[in-house]
Amino acid sequence: KITAAITGVQGYVPEDILTNADLAKLVDTNDEWITSRTGIKQRHILKGEGKGTSVMAIEAVKGLLAKTNTNPEEIDLLICATISPDHFFPATANIIANAVGIPQVGSYDIAAACSGFLNALTTGAMFIESGRYKKVVVVGADKMSSIVDYTDRTTCVLFGDGAGAVLLEANYEGLGIQDFILKSDGAGANHLIQKAGGSAYPPTHETIDNRWHYIHQEGQAVFKFAVTRMADVSAEIMERNNLTGDDISFLVPHQANKRIIDATANRMGVGPEKVMMTIQKYGNTTAATIPLCLWDYESQLKKGDNLILAAFGGGFTWGSIYLKW
Ligand code: ACO
Repeated sequence: KITAAITGVQGYVPEDILTNADLAKLVDTNDEWITSRTGIKQRHILKGEGKGTSVMAIEAVKGLLAKTNTNPEEIDLLICATISPDHFFPATANIIANAVGIPQVGSYDIAAACSGFLNALTTGAMFIESGRYKKVVVVGADKMSSIVDYTDRTTCVLFGDGAGAVLLEANYEGLGIQDFILKSDGAGANHLIQKAGGSAYPPTHETIDNRWHYIHQEGQAVFKFAVTRMADVSAEIMERNNLTGDDISFLVPHQANKRIIDATANRMGVGPEKVMMTIQKYGNTTAATIPLCLWDYESQLKKGDNLILAAFGGGFTWGSIYLKW
């Protein structure tokens, strides 16, 4: 049986840092509120005119190919998970593939908000498990600062910019993705939404004046849903694979709020030492949080480690993956 294994991971975050103290100068907030409610201390921000999400994704993919000694010509497919693409079209994946010298193979974007990386990873894995492709690059990248309203204290403290990329390769020893659960519920669409800019509300002076091109989030409603769904889906994948907390090497959760992560770990019976946590330094980078976690913790991972990846986000979308490293 062919499985899809992650054989390399690389992250990229821009140089500029926005601290909680910096935000307190923009809106009525403070370090104590942000830290205690979310766990976030700072986030990285991509600055510069004309610089979109691809700038960060290209750095991550270039680094990934170099570190895994992979010639771009070997790549069969590139998938980019993002909700802040450089443009609606062409796909950011097309721009990335061209910039890193991947030849004219398929490349496309997947939009599933904070669950984007899980959806992209499972999609890439299917091409490999079917035997069609040998090497697939999956990127999660978002420039959230481009759609965050820096006058809205309820959202601007949460998000940051970043990118993470993994190489998926065919494996014949049973390593890689073992199982996955992907879910969505469009009934929650209006709770977390960038209302304008798409075909429903193309940009006009009115949509701009209404600030509909920015993220709108009903924090408490999303929080309640996120806590139960992320915990439920992580428990479900453990149960059906006969795993207990002791069997898990690491929980790799989407980084939206430390309280949501703690609740998920608690439900899984996994101690804090086994929970990947990067929210304090990167904030919520949406599709990039999970690959950035894997990148940060790479040196602590051993072949065969059991990982549970879990995410929740706009859509609503949520899901989990059971992976052997
Ligand atoms: N600084 C100070 N006070 C603030 C801030 C701030 N930055 N933001 C809100 N407040 C105030 C509110 O106005 C409110 O004041 P009030 O009581 O006088 O009305 C009070 O703090 C409490 O606000 P809540 O919204 O109840 O705070 P809560 O504890 O729910 O935390 C948060 C807010 C952090 C947004 C939380 O609800 C959350 O994490 N939600 C889920 C986020 C999430 O998981 N999103 C999904 C992924 S993102 C994606 O997919 C793109």
